[in-house]
Amino acid sequence: MKRLAWINGAVCDLAEAVVPLEDRGYLFGDGVYEVIKIYNGKPFYLRPHLDRLQKSASGIAMEIPYPMEKIKQEIASLIENSACKGGYLYMQVTRGSAKRDHLLPGGTRPSMVMYVREYNSPATIEEIKPLNCITLPDERWLNCYIKSINLLPNVMARHKAADAGAQEAIFYRSGGTVTEGTRTNTFAVIDGVVRTHPESKLILSGITRMIALDLLDKLNIPVSEEAFNLEDLGKASEVWTTSTGMEIVPVVTIDKRAVSESVPGPICRSLIEEFWKIVEN
Ligand code: PDD
Repeated sequence: MKRLAWINGAVCDLAEAVVPLEDRGYLFGDGVYEVIKIYNGKPFYLRPHLDRLQKSASGIAMEIPYPMEKIKQEIASLIENSACKGGYLYMQVTRGSAKRDHLLPGGTRPSMVMYVREYNSPATIEEIKPLNCITLPDERWLNCYIKSINLLPNVMARHKAADAGAQEAIFYRSGGTVTEGTRTNTFAVIDGVVRTHPESKLILSGITRMIALDLLDKLNIPVSEEAFNLEDLGKASEVWTTSTGMEIVPVVTIDKRAVSESVPGPICRSLIEEFWKIVEN
């Protein structure tokens, strides 16, 4: 496949793609993004991703610089011209270029970039690598529903996880309330009920989270979108994460303690199987 980038309508090789130094995304982290999976050459759940992009942009008082229909067409051509069958599309909208000033610039046109990368998702449950996780205080801001490109707390937490030999950090707020992971939503089976933090400003409303909730409903598995704390997490019989990039991944240890004997547990396994049926169709 060809690695292509799209910068405000102009297409070039990803390796040669450049943006201006004074772009506010670069200077202030003033922008929002989306990661959209590509399966069989098609963007997966595009509409919800574009809706969330719009919501994120509104959350920082920024306009998306192109109509959604135009964005959809550009995404389709970028994927086609890249000849990408399996991968992901990264999309970012920043407030554009202006002389550095904290004050929002008036009259600056936001800048939009996209690029496509190949990515091979696991094809069997055995190929999925279960995650070792650590728990960390959630040091992010209080508008986590905005998919902002300001990801330093997530990046540092992911780094601490790696230092501890883990692949993901699960965040908790004061009182031990579990929110989500650095780049994933968190699910736990507690007393036979699947729990995940409710949609709120404290988490990103994940598209994969939404798909998982629909599938659990279809499977008649009891679910409660009710926050749980670290103590509940410690007694969970199954824990898994969801995200566009990694899909549904079981958690094997939390703070070095094994979650359960069999990983993935039965609910997580059924969920992965159902998820793959959607992907196939
Ligand atoms: N991360 N929570 C956070 C903090 C995230 O960054 C993400 C996604 C999710 C899962 O959302 P979704 O299912 O819509 O991908 C939850 C993306 C993939 C990333 O930053 O790479």
